[in-house]
Amino acid sequence: MAGDAEPRGNGPMKEGEEASFFGALLDEAGDLALGSLFEGKAWVAPNPMVGALALEGDRIMGRGLHRAFGQAHAEEEALREALEAGASPDTLVVTLEPCSSKGGEKKRPPCTETILASPIKRVVVGLEDPDPRHQGEGLAALRRAGLKVLGPFPSPSLQALLDPFRKALSLQRPWVIAKWAMSLDGKTATHSGSSSWISGEQSLDYGHRLRASCDSIMVGYRTALLDRPVLSVRRVPGPSPHRFVIDPKLQLPMDGPLFQTSSIPTTVLFLEGQGERAKEFENQGVECLAVPPLEPSGSVLDFSKALGLLHSRGMRRLLFEGGGQTLAQLLDQNCVDQCMALIAPKLVGGKDAPSPLGGKGVQEMDQARQLSGTFRFDLGMDLLMGGFLL
Ligand SMILES: NC(=O)c1ccc[n+]([C@@H]2O[C@H](COP(=O)([O-])OP(=O)(O)OC[C@H]3O[C@@H](n4cnc5c(N)ncnc54)[C@H](OP(=O)(O)O)[C@@H]3O)[C@@H](O)[C@H]2O)c1
Repeated sequence: MAGDAEPRGNGPMKEGEEASFFGALLDEAGDLALGSLFEGKAWVAPNPMVGALALEGDRIMGRGLHRAFGQAHAEEEALREALEAGASPDTLVVTLEPCSSKGGEKKRPPCTETILASPIKRVVVGLEDPDPRHQGEGLAALRRAGLKVLGPFPSPSLQALLDPFRKALSLQRPWVIAKWAMSLDGKTATHSGSSSWISGEQSLDYGHRLRASCDSIMVGYRTALLDRPVLSVRRVPGPSPHRFVIDPKLQLPMDGPLFQTSSIPTTVLFLEGQGERAKEFENQGVECLAVPPLEPSGSVLDFSKALGLLHSRGMRRLLFEGGGQTLAQLLDQNCVDQCMALIAPKLVGGKDAPSPLGGKGVQEMDQARQLSGTFRFDLGMDLLMGGFLL
């Protein structure tokens, strides 16, 4: 939606006026980057959260945010909106230096090229790209092409937008999102193992959209055994992610839906030395990957190594869908980056009914893991709550 930016007087602005004018616009672009209900914050990692405004003179003619991993960048979206409104935008305000690289893992064209192909003459930038491989290169490319580049104008709120991205830059494994559905009293199933369905329709749709935004999905052994999930995207349009199952001793029966739907790639991760049944799985079109134990001859699988293998196969955004014992292992091994709980207004009860996070747990409340950058919103009767482990 087009609209007026902060009003200012006629004539050219002085330096201080310009900084505060663009500072306010960068704050607005930063708020945009956080995203609307379903997008932005929870959907882009390991990419950065970015917001952009396209201006014609003083008027904002296009607003954009990077909504989801693999989808349009904020600059593209803001420019498209402005051009579709019939404007000829001359200034682009963007929270992060536009990307300039192409090829490799990039899913979108370089934003510098998109900007240079548009009527934009001036780019106002909040932050330099913290990725040492690209830092400053986007700004240099724009300057070389004759555009005026103002900034960077860093601020704490813009820096905070990049916290998850900074963590993702240091990872040699996919970004891991742990998601679960639970009752108001914190149960993920009944004491007999019944878990379909805790959530309402809107949450179920949301869960499938989340799956479609990831290139990989993972469950633990008991979840695969008891819940018999398919882990495909069915309720919304979109691709199904590559399925990974933790089955340390290759014990799962072959008749489970995960192994009977060969159209979606499936890989079972097992402990080195426990691969007697691997041929049986492979005959069914299911790949088996051996993972070393965390400690020599131990029975706990090393998740850093397992996820490193996934990373080397191009997996960048993994959705973990339970259960609690496996999540405890992932957390203990510092392999979780984002948590999302769908909380349904139901009471299940039962001291033996499972909860989202198993394991031993912390001893004292001040040892509890604190999430940052938290978000929450309603999904019908359910509440979605989440945050980052940075
Ligand atoms: N509501 C929801 O969102 C949701 C989602 C998923 C599951 N659930 C519920 O949660 C329950 C299952 O959860 P769960 O915690 O019992 O099971 P789980 O986490 O799915 O699987 C646990 C088992 O996986 C193996 N395992 C996990 N990490 C390992 C590692 N690093 N090394 C070696 N083995 C590892 C262990 O098998 P061994 O013990 O054989 O070594 C462990 O007992 C079910 O009732 C299901 O309905 C609910």
